[in-house]
Formats: sequence, C-alpha cells, structure tokens
Amino acid sequence: MMEKKSTMENSVKKDEKLYNIMGSEVVDGFTCKPKKLDPEKPIMHFKTQIFMCHDERCGAAHKSENLAADLRELLKDMGLAKGENRIKISRTGCFGACRFRSVANIYENTRINGHENNNNLWIRNVHKYDESQWRALFTALASNKDIDDLAFEQIPMSEPKRYN
Ligand code: FES
Repeated sequence: MMEKKSTMENSVKKDEKLYNIMGSEVVDGFTCKPKKLDPEKPIMHFKTQIFMCHDERCGAAHKSENLAADLRELLKDMGLAKGENRIKISRTGCFGACRFRSVANIYENTRINGHENNNNLWIRNVHKYDESQWRALFTALASNKDIDDLAFEQIPMSEPKRYN
C-alpha cells in the first residue's frame, strides 16, 4: 500500500466521466480540476490537516516518492478522506526543522470540530512510519485521542522569551 503510486486519488469515474472528490466533473487530462469553476464554492471541510514536509531533506528520507498520495489512498481506505472527521494531507516546503526529519505538522480545525489538544503538534521521523503507524495516527486523530499520550515522537518548541 505505501509503495503504491496513485494519480487518481482525487477523483472517481462515473458514466465515463471523471468527478473530483467535491462532486464536480473534471477537465479531460486532469484528476481534480473542475470543468465549471465556481469561485464561491467553499473549500472541502476537514477536521484535521497534516502538513507533510516534502522538501529536499525530508523528501529524500521518505520511503515513497509519493508519500502524500499514498497517505490519501490510505485515508480513503479508512473512510477518513471525506465527511465530518476528514483528514487532509498537504505537502509543504522546508519547515526549517530538517534535523528532525521527516517532519509533519498537525493542524486541527478548531473553528469547526477540530480537537484543541492535538492542534499545532509537530511530529518527527515520520519517514520511519509503516502503514500500521500511519493507521494508528489517523485513528487517534479521527477519534480525538490526545497525541501527547501516545507514542508518536514530537518536536519540542522553545519558549518565545528565549530569543528576546
Ligand atoms: S526539508 Fe523538511 S524541515 Fe527542512
């Protein structure tokens, strides 16, 4: 599963037409670009967003070149790619925390239904995770278990006064 490459993670085929995860028909040759653009359409709800560093040093550490796409497939399989507890994966550039690579930031949508205790957590060494560890992380996040109480290595953050 984690080695699998995917180009269709954001779309589904129905009646020979391709639709993105938001239900819009997709432009030929794309997997998520809608044919009809509605500038007022809201972005898709997520409870948790995970920003995955995909820059030079973290990216080189990943076992898969398509880690973000693989994780989206895993989330689909777990039923967490849409709905109330949706977990969104976004790739980012360098966080300036390369020594903790591979690095990911967990952001909870606390304005809607995110879990405050898991908001703005930084986890490290995610390149070492196998599928069962990703499943355990996603399950914990979706069920609002405090990550602080679980065995996911976090990155400490210094006090702001340290640099005054
Ligand atoms: S390359 Fe990932 S934190 Fe720098």
